[in-house]
Amino acid sequence: MDLVKNGCLLWFTGLSGAGKSTLSERVAACLVACGCPVELLDGDEVRTHLSKGLGFSKEDRDTNVRRIGFVARLLARHGVLAITAAISPYRAIRDEQRALCAGQAAFCEVYMECPLEVLAERDVKGLYKKALAGEIKHFTGVSDPYEPPEQPEVVVRSDRDAIDDGALRVIAKLVAQGVLDEAITAQAQAFFAKETA
Ligand code: ADX
Repeated sequence: MDLVKNGCLLWFTGLSGAGKSTLSERVAACLVACGCPVELLDGDEVRTHLSKGLGFSKEDRDTNVRRIGFVARLLARHGVLAITAAISPYRAIRDEQRALCAGQAAFCEVYMECPLEVLAERDVKGLYKKALAGEIKHFTGVSDPYEPPEQPEVVVRSDRDAIDDGALRVIAKLVAQGVLDEAITAQAQAFFAKETA
């Protein structure tokens, strides 16, 4: 049975280090294991290929996000679950991408919420320390804006929520949106149960 009923943009947004890549990879792994066509456009990866040469001005970020949305829609049009994981800091551009999906594909926005103090403490890439010391200009959340979504389909608090619970909530939302068949629920639960056993 085909579990995917509709192509979709699964749009992760949130600050650097908030867990967009981790959760999106987890969701993607589960969907792939269930036999769904999935493509993941990760922010860092996109910047080494599709958006090579772009910086972090508002103009360059908007260009980056629009390119990601463009490719994701091409994929979604063919029934792919296109997952994007870039900071995508500006609400208007994310909303623009949502509007461009109308009549073509579903859109599911996942906000990875995490307090700045926690991110600065974790500082996986060592960038917050530098940004807070003024060594990186225009760093999102420190010296550059991040506009959180007003009505995201899913919110995951990455410092509090277990990652697999977050992944299951995302998949449940895709079922509720009519993107995935209800039959995936049991398969996804079994996938995470097996992985953590
Ligand atoms: S976006 O704003 O255009 O959506 P994107 O997700 O592609 O951002 O890239 C963010 C990544 O670039 C961060 O995770 C971080 O590793 C790196 N980076 C380098 N400079 C900055 C900056 N000024 N602001 C945010 N991230 C930066």
